[in-house]
Amino acid sequence: LGKRLTGNVKALEEAAAGEETTLISAVTLLFEKAIAQAFPIVPESLEKSRWLVVQATSDAKHGDYQCNSAMAIHKILKDKVVSHALAGVADAPKAPRDVSARIVECIPKNKVLLKTEIAGPGFINIFLDPAFIAESFAKILKNGPQPPASQPQEVVVDFSSPNIAKEMHVGHLRSTIIGESICRVLEFCGHRVHRINHVGDWGTQFGMLINHLRTAYPNFHEQPPNISDLTTFYKEAKKRFDEDAEFKEASRTSVVTLQAGDPYSLQCWKALCDVSRIQFQMVYDRLECAGLVEQGESFYNSRIPDVVKELTAKGMVEESDGAKIIQCGKQFPLMAVKSDGGYGYDSTDLTAVKYRLQEMKADRVIYVTDAGQSEHFEMIFHAAKRAGWCEGGARLDHVPFGLVLGDDKKKFKTRSGEVTKLVDLLDEAVTRSLTHLRERMNTEGSTTQMAEGDLEEASRRIGYGCVKYADLRQHRISDYQFSYDKMLDLKGNTAVYLMYSYARITSIKARAGVKLQDLANVLPSVQHPKEYQLVLHILKFPEVVERVADTLLPHLICEFLYDTAEKFNDFYRDCHVIGDPLQSQRLVICEVVAAVMKKGMSLLGITPLEKI
Ligand code: ARG
Repeated sequence: LGKRLTGNVKALEEAAAGEETTLISAVTLLFEKAIAQAFPIVPESLEKSRWLVVQATSDAKHGDYQCNSAMAIHKILKDKVVSHALAGVADAPKAPRDVSARIVECIPKNKVLLKTEIAGPGFINIFLDPAFIAESFAKILKNGPQPPASQPQEVVVDFSSPNIAKEMHVGHLRSTIIGESICRVLEFCGHRVHRINHVGDWGTQFGMLINHLRTAYPNFHEQPPNISDLTTFYKEAKKRFDEDAEFKEASRTSVVTLQAGDPYSLQCWKALCDVSRIQFQMVYDRLECAGLVEQGESFYNSRIPDVVKELTAKGMVEESDGAKIIQCGKQFPLMAVKSDGGYGYDSTDLTAVKYRLQEMKADRVIYVTDAGQSEHFEMIFHAAKRAGWCEGGARLDHVPFGLVLGDDKKKFKTRSGEVTKLVDLLDEAVTRSLTHLRERMNTEGSTTQMAEGDLEEASRRIGYGCVKYADLRQHRISDYQFSYDKMLDLKGNTAVYLMYSYARITSIKARAGVKLQDLANVLPSVQHPKEYQLVLHILKFPEVVERVADTLLPHLICEFLYDTAEKFNDFYRDCHVIGDPLQSQRLVICEVVAAVMKKGMSLLGITPLEKI
């Protein structure tokens, strides 16, 4: 238990009481103890992940969990060295089934398991005790949904990270949505999360932009140009840069003066950053993405030379055609210093990773970008490890994601071929949600009733929720097709479906007219198979959160929520709630399912409506 120390007080108390915070860890612990007692030689001869295999079953017929350790253990025991060690042990198991039988005999007394069955070549099917299930479930009613136990960490999440003076594109939208969800999951687990916006606010393109600003808009302080459409501004600058040799030369000089800290250049640079920032903020406001701290490329600029010096001293830097490079076993090396003496994306990221590990003291640094940058981060991580910056055991993760495609399965664009502005895209989702809501309200027999004044807020929550969910529900590495119709489909695997399911549960609670405190000491009913399956499923929530915190795959939460809604529908179809003798026991189920759904949605950045 010493290892499981945690800052989460509740989890700590439970651990001290011998209670694990996830079902699977409670079951696994029992089998770990049983195996260690039955075959003490096993833990000594093989790493745990090989001999302790406990997982959820796919079919309820075979119990709730399964222990599939017997085959591997049997093999170990057969191994020469081990059989030598076992010499003299009269009853060495002959077959995996015998191994299972011994394990089962050694399971410590507990209140978690109802029974076990040995099946096939030696699988142990595990049936949980309904009384334990019911009690664990009732705890959620009392304490709210709990995270898995974990050692609190300092985590830096680098996400969103758009580029100054360029339009934020759908890739940045994905990074923002996925990154925000990851932050919420890690915070729920008790970690201290730093949301870092690594904006592209430095580099050679600023020479061109500054030079364009100062020549085309000479008194930009007094009369700020309308550069709210930065894409056009960027294009104009680029055009001049490509066509006008003098402009090009002047741009080069501008970069140098900017990097040297010339006040006027800095003013121009700041003006451009400010305009961009306003545009980015419009997207963050809509997405309810708060707490993102801007620590862009420029932040690291002054720190780069020392890092290059350090890496050189560590023998990692080579000269190549006037540039300084770091080989990382890939086709191209990292550029520590470019041949013109400047620093770029690579040296900035090298400096940033060191800063995060050593100054911010991060235990884990997470980067959320498109999959196209995977190799870049592999190299950065490789170099960071070689430089010894991860020595305390810090973990570096790249979280790559696929492309957003349009209806035609090509890269997402508007009809006119322009890159879609994110704000427009989000607004469109809201407009369509509003239309849908109005349609439903006007449909005969529809239960959707809403005051006119609530419609706007409702359509915002639905619209943004649907965009987020459509992005998060797929494995992030796959490309996904952006379709308003699909993401707003009431009957599909969508946020709006989940929101309706949630609102339905709250309406059952409301109709019953029972107060929460009246349910305080009530245990859920778990007699009916649909009740049991739903309750068991809900208890797996911390397990899912734990997996997401590890794998950084938010779609697992979407899957969990969708299953929850489906299982709730099964339960509600087969089990009466209101007016039934088991009303209270079933209302407990409704109450907890709603709380867990709400928490799950909030981890995706979605705020459900209590009433639709
Ligand atoms: N600005 C970059 C882009 O738009 C993303 C930056 C990601 N973070 C980093 N530390 N490199 O692609």
